[in-house]
Amino acid sequence: MSQIETVLKETREFAPSQEFVARANLQPSEYQRVFAEAARNPIQFWEGAARNIDWFQPWQKTFEWKEPHAKWFVGGQLNASYNCLDRHLKTDTKNKLALIWEGEDGHTTRLTYQELFERVCQLANAMESKLDLRAGDFAAIYMPLVPEAVVTMLACARIGVTHSVIFAGFSAHAVRDRINDARCKVVFTADETYRKGQPLNLISIVRQAVAECPGVQHTVVLTRNASTHLSGREVAYQAISEAQPKTHTAKPIDAEHPLFVLYTSGTTGKPKGILHTTGGYLTGVNQTARWVFDLKPNDIYWCTADIGWITGHSYVVYGILSLGMTSLIYEGVLNHPHPGRIWEIADRHKVTILYTAPTAIRSFMRAGEEHPNKYPMASLRLLGTVGEPINPEAWIWYQQTIGKGRCPIVDTWWQTETGGIMISPIPGVVPTKPGSATKPFPGILADIVDENGKSCGPNEGGYLVIKHPWPSMARTILGDPDRFRDAYWTRFPGMYFTGDGAHKDAQGYFWIKGRVDDVINVSGHRLGTMEIESALVSHPSVAEAAVVGPPDELKGQSIVAFVIPKDIANLTDLSALEQSLKRHVANEIGAIARPDRILLTRTLPKTRSGKIMRRLLKDFAAGKTTSGDTTTLENPNLVDLIK
Ligand code: WTA
Repeated sequence: MSQIETVLKETREFAPSQEFVARANLQPSEYQRVFAEAARNPIQFWEGAARNIDWFQPWQKTFEWKEPHAKWFVGGQLNASYNCLDRHLKTDTKNKLALIWEGEDGHTTRLTYQELFERVCQLANAMESKLDLRAGDFAAIYMPLVPEAVVTMLACARIGVTHSVIFAGFSAHAVRDRINDARCKVVFTADETYRKGQPLNLISIVRQAVAECPGVQHTVVLTRNASTHLSGREVAYQAISEAQPKTHTAKPIDAEHPLFVLYTSGTTGKPKGILHTTGGYLTGVNQTARWVFDLKPNDIYWCTADIGWITGHSYVVYGILSLGMTSLIYEGVLNHPHPGRIWEIADRHKVTILYTAPTAIRSFMRAGEEHPNKYPMASLRLLGTVGEPINPEAWIWYQQTIGKGRCPIVDTWWQTETGGIMISPIPGVVPTKPGSATKPFPGILADIVDENGKSCGPNEGGYLVIKHPWPSMARTILGDPDRFRDAYWTRFPGMYFTGDGAHKDAQGYFWIKGRVDDVINVSGHRLGTMEIESALVSHPSVAEAAVVGPPDELKGQSIVAFVIPKDIANLTDLSALEQSLKRHVANEIGAIARPDRILLTRTLPKTRSGKIMRRLLKDFAAGKTTSGDTTTLENPNLVDLIK
């Protein structure tokens, strides 16, 4: 366990205020009982949670398990779109805001539940009558964070079409591979989005991708620029939905019907299509949103994540709308056109709950507290973080400077694969410690184990595992069930392996350290080192490449690539090659994967069996001398840098 050292020595503890506790959705008096009962019988606990969802047909069997494939609420029928829309139209929620959208230029759109419902119905009608989409089909969504993107997700769910949202920052190659992997019939996109005041063309990327996607029958384009010209199989989003009826009967969908696929990085080059189904997923995100965000009817909730990531799926769309809450979305950069933009938005829209990433918090901390101090943000009552470990310093800054000491902080640990929050404080109940995600959610049996799968003692570093299936867990990797088993269920028999290292303290609080595999976490986004390596070696001048993610103060981890060029003897312009490699990776995967540093080298440290010793490269990139064992090295000369 030498890689997993227990270094944190954080002892501060914060209890929620009396005022917060008095109104909390889950009361301290109930918590012990709920937690203990859920641990004894998680299936019964989740069955209770599923009763908060509207079902067209009750389930016959709560849980079926053939490791590693779970089924929850077998035989039940429901509709995720119905649960996010129709059921609220029977109450006052009908006229409440479902979405508040703000564009980078300050424009806002507000949609009530009734209005959102009508838009979703129109698009669902168009999908059936104009696009020939049916339950069982897959559709790709490559859209900026606009209301129409949420409408498209909910319209797919309404008719049983499985959506695959692809973050609108991925390159044409990445988009093409994802579309083809899921055999998407239709792609939804927009002609452009705006970043830092500049238009960014999306449709050209989609066009380039779709040219190599034989299965795509239509591209539906939200046109925002009057001069965009559509051709061939492209149709305007507005044109197909406008004339459609504003009602539509949601289709009853089997609980285990796939709601969406979402691609995420793993330890090999190919991204994994994580498949989530309907009943269990909705149950999980609804229950966790209710307790972790302690949502109340008057809350204005803002999660800054894009819908291209799991956080956007679960806690911008499905968890939040299924509870009838108001969800704010912002299409733009959080520090544009000024460093306090995020606080300005929170203040103007009277946001009560803010959920963002540690990377963002660290960068705002660095920008200085004079920016948040310009905005009272008096409405804020709860703050959350997700995506990577938060360092205690940033946690305290968030709590003091943004929360003014009055808002509990929920540091939520979870993954694309888990669907919903797994380890997090329940804010009225669990005292927080800066840097700790605290305790597992009721019904989640998390533990930390050693190499042999044996539970670790207090403060002993080990591997984070989940010991009982839960409803919102991924069902498989699309088209590759073997990889699903290998990646998560073979390392520790009978347990789900998260890929994260962690320890528990004497009070049973979980402290997550980060990945123990070849996945790096840059600004809260997971990237596989192999994925970037395959992109690098596809460049004509590259013979071999190894990518590591040394710690970075701001981004969590940075991307450093060690590259052996092919024709070393004739290399003249090193910096031109470096630039070309960076561009190439951005082109193959997307700008998020662009290496921060490229180190051109003649050799890479390898074991005698030919495995690259990444640990050494990581130490090297971080400027550390290597302390670990190097006796298995084939070439004792670590890296022979050209430059
Ligand atoms: C990391 C994001 C520490 C972790 C929802 C996990 C965290 C990966 C936290 C999943 C947290 C996420 N504390 N680490 N609160 N939240 N992580 O799939 O390494 O994009 O395995 O899901 O992010 O990233 P993903």
